[in-house]
Amino acid sequence: MNTLFRKKSIAQIQADAAAGTSDDGGGLRRSLGTFDLTMLGIAAIIGAGIFAMVGKASYDGGPAVILLFIFAAIACGFSALCYAEFASKIPIAGSAYTYAYASFGELLAWIIGWDLLLEYAIGNIAVAISWSGYFTGLLSSIKIPSLGIPDGINIPLHFTTDYRTASSGFEIVQEAIGKGGSLESLQAVCQNIGAAISCDKIDAYAAWLNAPQIGGLPIIANLPALAIVFIITYLVYIGIRESKTASNIMVGLKLAVILLVIGLGAFYVRPENWSPFMPQGFGGVMSGVAAVFFAYIGFDAISTTAEECKDPYKTLPRGMLYSLGICTVLYIALALVLTGMVNYTQLNVTDPLAFVFGERGVNIPWVSGVIAVSAVIAIATVLLVFQLGQPRLWMAMSRDGLLPKIFSSIHPKFRTPWFSTILTGFLVAIPALFMNLSEVTELSVIGTLFAFSIVCAGVLVKDKEFAGQKRYVPYINSQWIVPISFIILEAAIIYFNGDAVIKFFTDYSHGADETFIGAFSHKIPYFVFLIFSLVMAALCFVKRLTLIPVLGIMFCTYLMTELGITNWIRFGIWLLIGLGVYFLYGYKHSKLHNREEVAAET
Ligand code: ALA
Repeated sequence: MNTLFRKKSIAQIQADAAAGTSDDGGGLRRSLGTFDLTMLGIAAIIGAGIFAMVGKASYDGGPAVILLFIFAAIACGFSALCYAEFASKIPIAGSAYTYAYASFGELLAWIIGWDLLLEYAIGNIAVAISWSGYFTGLLSSIKIPSLGIPDGINIPLHFTTDYRTASSGFEIVQEAIGKGGSLESLQAVCQNIGAAISCDKIDAYAAWLNAPQIGGLPIIANLPALAIVFIITYLVYIGIRESKTASNIMVGLKLAVILLVIGLGAFYVRPENWSPFMPQGFGGVMSGVAAVFFAYIGFDAISTTAEECKDPYKTLPRGMLYSLGICTVLYIALALVLTGMVNYTQLNVTDPLAFVFGERGVNIPWVSGVIAVSAVIAIATVLLVFQLGQPRLWMAMSRDGLLPKIFSSIHPKFRTPWFSTILTGFLVAIPALFMNLSEVTELSVIGTLFAFSIVCAGVLVKDKEFAGQKRYVPYINSQWIVPISFIILEAAIIYFNGDAVIKFFTDYSHGADETFIGAFSHKIPYFVFLIFSLVMAALCFVKRLTLIPVLGIMFCTYLMTELGITNWIRFGIWLLIGLGVYFLYGYKHSKLHNREEVAAET
């Protein structure tokens, strides 16, 4: 049992990284300063979430989606402080994986390393799919009759979507046609607010019908998503120096566009659009958790470049905190402007920022066009940072013997982890062809929240050891604050939601029908959270834990409970597979394990 929890000392981690285990000699190039890291952070943060996914979240939550942006920012803020704390003490490419190795030992470190695949690789699948959506929309809007392109450049629909989207769109439209509607009539009104069948469903229907078939199976695949992942992987493969310059320029552009939306949009805000503020209640707001949180992910990814930073002890924490701070301010302003410019009922679109300036918004076509072009670039920069992060994480895991040596092999010319980079490329590109956007987004978010919680927990464990050093997480006694807040929050929930809670349990006592079991199972994560927070409150009281990481854990785990039981099950299966891989390979090959065995024999 002890071997599973064998920890690496910080001195050992640093020595291992300094020695570098690449057979080809030499480590990575150190070229990144605070400015580059802040830019890299922004490159990773501002992307598919704010340019695309926030549309649906605003539609479901109404203007109150702003509260979700604030809530998610607080959760990220506490986590970022904990990341900064570790990054300043252990600036090694493994990020949360390395921090967990030092705090909790090998098994949990492996679990986090495996879990981060969800944030980086699965997250990037979501980003690639969103990118493809914007890109194909942009291509089809290029109408130049003089060059023989009167209707825009249109890639066949079955090569721009996924199987599930197409088949469900097909079923929905088929049913509507069965009820007497004609395709033409549905198509004519699909753009209207509140149309029974939206235009994207009709596109999905067409994709399904027109797809070529092999053995009766329609061939539907997202080719632009595949292409962009391969292009970005090539950039990352040839080296961070090139990637850095490209990324800095692209980030400047996307910041300019976001500022343009906020600055210009503010003049078109009509405060009456902010009312009703929470049209679908708390539940409506919370259904946007995955989208809004996804919009913030990324500041942590820059910690994987720790071995390419100049003076990482200082630059890395600053880069993370600055980039998150800048994006938080921008997002909250943006959410206010977006929901103030048009009625929230209009925002169920995949390109909300371009939309509010388009024909059905305030109608300034050039702004709408500029935003659409910038979104394509902005979303590509997110891909870049995450494609950069995943191989570096594997590199750290391979150096510890938990993955084969080739994962940390460094290219002699480009000085990049070449094998891991190429593998990441395939691992993201191939599923991006077929997977469904919301499924991958939710899986990525639950994995990231888990990693954030573990990093916060790591700071709790290391609190005493870090005492006396320069701190990003100063000690604040949680003894009274946490238990009292817990009691106040629970009282508030019962006060405001009491009827619903009582109804829930009286329904339960009247025998469990199927709908109730469904509803109940969706609440299981929440009930577990209640017990967990009670335990945390008691621990804070008894052990006087330090406040910031405790709050980080509570906020992140709460957000996890909002992601529904299906996601939890998928997440659980993912972790189980990871455990299997560990016991088949990592457990035996772990360098720490072998070192300890040698020590025991001598
Ligand atoms: N925050 C990143 C995005 O929204 C992952 O694309």
